[in-house]
Amino acid sequence: MRILAVESSCDDMSWAIVEDGRYVEGCEVFSQELLHAQTGGVVPEVAARHHIIQSIPVLKKLVGGVEQCKNIDAIAVTVGPGLLGSLLVGISTAQTLALFLKKPLIPVHHIEGHIYANWLEREPEEIVFPLVVLTVSGGHNDLYYMEKIGHYELLGHTLDDAAGEAFDKVARVLELGYPGGPAIERLVEGFSSDVYNFPKALKGKEIYDYSFSGLKSEIRRTVENIKKERGELTLQDKKEIAYGFQKAVTEVLAERLLKAAYDKKAKSICVSGGVSASNALSAHVHRLAAQFGFASSQIFFPKKKMYSTDNAAMIGAAAFIKRADALESAVEICALTPVLSYTLSSMDTASSGSTKSGT
Ligand code: KG4
Ligand code: ZN
Repeated sequence: MRILAVESSCDDMSWAIVEDGRYVEGCEVFSQELLHAQTGGVVPEVAARHHIIQSIPVLKKLVGGVEQCKNIDAIAVTVGPGLLGSLLVGISTAQTLALFLKKPLIPVHHIEGHIYANWLEREPEEIVFPLVVLTVSGGHNDLYYMEKIGHYELLGHTLDDAAGEAFDKVARVLELGYPGGPAIERLVEGFSSDVYNFPKALKGKEIYDYSFSGLKSEIRRTVENIKKERGELTLQDKKEIAYGFQKAVTEVLAERLLKAAYDKKAKSICVSGGVSASNALSAHVHRLAAQFGFASSQIFFPKKKMYSTDNAAMIGAAAFIKRADALESAVEICALTPVLSYTLSSMDTASSGSTKSGT
């Protein structure tokens, strides 16, 4: 089954064709990073306006022309959560295409997209259930237990910022640019320091929640003190602070994840979302896994970095995997509205802590 998928929930416009939820025939992403670097973060109105400009050119780059879409089986689109203006561009374009091509339209939850990004370019039996999955991005920081596909038990989440958001804010304080995660990673590549041993939020508590606001304030205080004493931060100061911050965040993400996997007797451990592109996070998870009795073969990060950050291939994967009967469960366009609200409320219920059976 070939699915044409579109993702436009934040500042990336992406189209992809995915076969049977895992073979990526093509995936194009137009990132607005350079645009939002000027403001140090995403301005929703600006993001939506640029999606309008980019939507069709990115699709054409993928398929050449609309005629080439005729032999796809369905269209999948991110319906939320995300920036409303940005989402609407993807949804409207997908709806129009579905109507024109007479194809079913499959609504996909953005976080489910991130979760199933781990199935891309892998054999379906590689990832064994039950599993725990950490979805960690600019807007989300959730830890789920999954007994099977489509079932999510929220074990923990952030009490304030998502880790990606913390990376972006700290990078702004250090004047490193946007997005902060990759900027910090580039700055500290091959660097190591024990000058700063920043506190790990909620350390030592028997819970799976996260909090990064204390760490963020500590970084801000450190920067202010240096500025008071010496005027400006040197490159060395920035490296030391960035290294200490990256270490504190990735260690706490890895610790909670491994603890949850151990407690829940998980057979697989998955990490997804933009922050899963972090080499430091991957290194901590693999290192800690051994201490908790897990093998490296039980740990899954998206196969390619481009499947960690927002992309349409993950939406095509989720559309197929979550609904093995995707064609049957796909909806007529006129029936889209109730399905959108159901799709959103189904994940929201999972987020409030209960186990929820998927569609
Ligand atoms: O999943 P994503 O593309 O968009 C959201 O759904 O939010 O995630 C973007 C986030 C940004 O906050 C960015 O700083 C972070 O992912 N990120 C990283 C890395 N690459 C992207 N954080 C840490 N290390 C990275 N290498
Ligand atoms: Zn995302």
